[in-house]
Amino acid sequence: MRGVPGVLSTGVTRRELIGAGAAVLTAPGLASTAKPQQPATAGRQRERLERWKFHLGHAADVESDFGFGRNQRSFAKAGSAADGAMPKFDDSAWADVIVPHDWAVSLPFAPPTSPPGKDNADAKAAHGFKAIGRDFPQNSVGWYRTTINVTEADRGRRLWLEFDGVFRDAIVFVNGYDVVRNESGYAPFSVRIDDFLDYDGGPNVIAVRSDATLGEGWFYEGAGIYRHVELVRADPLHIPQWGVVVRTELSPTGARVRIATDVVNSSDRPTDARLRLMLVTPGSDTITINEPIAISLAAGERRTFVEEYTYPRPQLWSLEEPNLYVVRAELLATERRLIDNVDTRFGIRDIRFDAERGFFLNGRPAKLLGTCNHQDHAGVGAGIPDSLHRWRVWQLKEMGSNAWRSAHNPPASALLDICDELGMLMIVEQRINSSSDEALSQLERTIRRDRNHPCVILWSLGNEEPHQATARGARINSEMSTHVKRLDPTRLTTFAMDQGWDNGVGRVVDVLGFNYRTNQIEAYHGRHPEQPLYGSETGSTVATRGEYANDSGRHIVRAYDTEHPWWATTAEEWWTIVAERAYIAGGFVWTGFDYRGEPTPYAEYPSIGSQFGILDSCGFPKDNYYYYRAWWRSDHPMVHLLPHWNWPGRDGQPIEVWAHGNTEEVELRLNGRSLGRKSMPRNRHLEWRVPYASGRLEAIGYNGGRPIARDIRQTSGPSHAVRLTLDRRIAKAGEVVIANAMVVDARGRPVPTADDLLRFKTYGGDVIGVGNGNPNSLEPDVASERKAFNGFAQAIVRVRRGPVDISVVGDKLKGARMRIVGL
Ligand code: GAL
Repeated sequence: MRGVPGVLSTGVTRRELIGAGAAVLTAPGLASTAKPQQPATAGRQRERLERWKFHLGHAADVESDFGFGRNQRSFAKAGSAADGAMPKFDDSAWADVIVPHDWAVSLPFAPPTSPPGKDNADAKAAHGFKAIGRDFPQNSVGWYRTTINVTEADRGRRLWLEFDGVFRDAIVFVNGYDVVRNESGYAPFSVRIDDFLDYDGGPNVIAVRSDATLGEGWFYEGAGIYRHVELVRADPLHIPQWGVVVRTELSPTGARVRIATDVVNSSDRPTDARLRLMLVTPGSDTITINEPIAISLAAGERRTFVEEYTYPRPQLWSLEEPNLYVVRAELLATERRLIDNVDTRFGIRDIRFDAERGFFLNGRPAKLLGTCNHQDHAGVGAGIPDSLHRWRVWQLKEMGSNAWRSAHNPPASALLDICDELGMLMIVEQRINSSSDEALSQLERTIRRDRNHPCVILWSLGNEEPHQATARGARINSEMSTHVKRLDPTRLTTFAMDQGWDNGVGRVVDVLGFNYRTNQIEAYHGRHPEQPLYGSETGSTVATRGEYANDSGRHIVRAYDTEHPWWATTAEEWWTIVAERAYIAGGFVWTGFDYRGEPTPYAEYPSIGSQFGILDSCGFPKDNYYYYRAWWRSDHPMVHLLPHWNWPGRDGQPIEVWAHGNTEEVELRLNGRSLGRKSMPRNRHLEWRVPYASGRLEAIGYNGGRPIARDIRQTSGPSHAVRLTLDRRIAKAGEVVIANAMVVDARGRPVPTADDLLRFKTYGGDVIGVGNGNPNSLEPDVASERKAFNGFAQAIVRVRRGPVDISVVGDKLKGARMRIVGL
């Protein structure tokens, strides 16, 4: 409903809404007789630049790098930076790609040529043995080009590009001009481009050269434009990027909402306008919240206008009901013409860390049931499409997780949007822990971008830096904290420490993060009872999905909750400590998903990824998923059995059988015969040793003596057919659908060891990547076929337009086909 001034669609009047503490801060008026310019279009336009041409450049050879740096030309004369940056350059032979895009994921694997610790071997392992970095100059630079449509109507307007993240060392060219450089692979950046455009119908070409020769972390980081890019067209009088800041505070009379709006007059004359603010409620009602404020800005002036009011009956943002509001800020010309408009989403919620009682959301304790994650997924690497981000968040939410730590860098904006929408709390972390100008600039850009997101609960300044326990570390981090507080006084700072907590950084951040060493938290709390704390990295069971015996020859780790590196613990070890102590605000498991690079526990080729995940790199759950699900959603009775029940040749031999679950008792049955009932200890699991006999192993969970949950493992026959499940049956053009394939026998029983080659096909869509969760697989990700790994494989399918048919077949296997309705 449209807002009628003074009458609100929620039934309250504007007078009630604006409340006693309302303050309208306008600057002293600046007389202006100048007429506003007359753009052809009203308001601003945002356009997502998704379609680009792509080609590898070269870090060492000028000709293969499209002339970049030839005869110093890139720098010597304006507008002729490199052949590949020029509008007339013929890029028809370049590949068509859709951003988000990660070129590293399609590179071949390169076995190390030197032992760990030598030469560049560690960098190669860090990046999952992808052939990128110093030793591969031919693979380490990527060029992107796209043409934007600029017309006479754009003349006089401000046009700028907003990059959410390019990995890394990006140079952006507009029509051959070098317009901005950005070294960080994670911090967002933007650049004004209107001076460099051709308004007379000429092609207007944006080119990006990204150099991923050097990494920033010790994990796979991808390469290229792996996050969104947007083109914004606005009037010279406009609200700049991230120019609206909304802060809320709950009080007995409702929510106090404070909106600070920056306005810039980038024209060369004084300009008058009016600023109007409206609120769009979670129910899509539009409420006008102020009489437009008259504003008057001198040429080149930038000013902040603050409005405060009380909203009487707010619908709070919570984990269960993530209600979101939008502030619609409009600049109107005196004759009511719309000059500029910006929508800013926010949530009304209250967060608090208490040193004795942990984390509170809206006044209620909410233990942080978290996971740490890198931006990486099977098939696509770091170039995760929004719908895949959503799917990943949802897998963890289903498990009972309510928090995500973006390790060890600021996340994609798209991920924050999704966490806002699904009710997943977020710790936003910096990549560079420093108070250098560059690091503070990265910090500032991140906070300006992210501070309106209700999901964000903490700013993490860093992780396990060598200076963490030193006076220098304290100085650097207190400078960073001061910077944070200036930009966002509503949230606290944290740092993930793995030692020396009593010193250095531990003394200057608000909330202390413990990486591992969960059993040392109690003593620390005794020494520093006034400081809130949590486990910033916890657990870290390593496990290969569907495997139940360690095999160092094959780099396989059994999926019982028993294996972990020396610095870490099992799931059960950390959670039993944290669950029982209210003062520990919660913990973040290292990690939610397996990720490429940092191969652990087997650091050697051909292990290309870590095995820390609760879910594998495709998001197929490992058995520990059910441990967390049992205790993080303990009001949902469940039981889960492991291992599988295909042990040919082991008749009569004892098999280690575990049940995860949360019912009071669990009974185990083999082929109908009871092997006894046991009580489930809180936050733990049950174990049996069962002499193997093929057939049916069954766990039955009881509450109050009644069966309430059940899980079955059955010995299967050979692979016979493949089944397909899709994460949804309706999708919009451009979205991706997650297609999971499972191999079954002639009677439809899952074949837990199947490794059949599966081929995916689509009509109306594109298979953009495949995976199977095997951390030792050297099969290509950018392909349409993949061997199953322990029964499963995955394809990520981008919808072109509906309907889309997705099918999967395998040699001698009965195939499957499903249809998606397109929107
Ligand atoms: C931590 C580190 C993580 C990851 C992990 C592996 O020390 O913060 O990024 O390397 O160890 O166990």
